[in-house]
Amino acid sequence: GATIPIAADEAQPQRQQPHKLDECRRCDLWQHATQAVPGEGAKHARIMLVGEQPGDQEDLQGHPFVGPAGTLLDKALEQAGVDRAKVYVTNAVKHFKWEPRGKRRLHKTPAQKEVAACHYWLEAELAKVQPDVVVALGSTALKSVLEDGRARLKDFMEAPVRHGNVLVVATYHPAFILRVPEQEAREQAMEALVHALRTAHELTL
Ligand code: URA
Repeated sequence: GATIPIAADEAQPQRQQPHKLDECRRCDLWQHATQAVPGEGAKHARIMLVGEQPGDQEDLQGHPFVGPAGTLLDKALEQAGVDRAKVYVTNAVKHFKWEPRGKRRLHKTPAQKEVAACHYWLEAELAKVQPDVVVALGSTALKSVLEDGRARLKDFMEAPVRHGNVLVVATYHPAFILRVPEQEAREQAMEALVHALRTAHELTL
């Protein structure tokens, strides 16, 4: 996958940081992951979508949002009239955190210290892509994007907020929408996601 070159971390010579995302040891999640999953998409996309972390499929394939949540995201992008090839898609955390459940690997929400450790890489992606709008998909993404571990999704769903050089649009995570048990509520959550993507697109016009 694509890597983002960085300077060696001179402040911590005893724990030298690697130049490559896949060699990252800033937290311990690499130990049980297949590989790091970098963001991908248009080089200078106006819109950056940020998810939580790779899921089972993303971990195996090395690409963001290629599993069930990705299928739902693709549907939402299509309904919003946004071309996935024109946006940049990434995650707040680049390694898959999971726990065994029978033969399956069950997603585990990353700890705040893991989100904070991985913010380094999101920062590098933001500096490189320089989007105008960042869509935070779910609470973990929002916390990382706003650099505020106490940020609540519901407080930011109403309207975009400015953070540094970007406008932040907050909405539900696609995997959350998949798990809403009641159909009507699920459709409403999907509409909120589509609306957020449309808002992001309009902010770039
Ligand atoms: N969920 C995420 O947050 N990111 C992915 O890449 C896949 C599922």
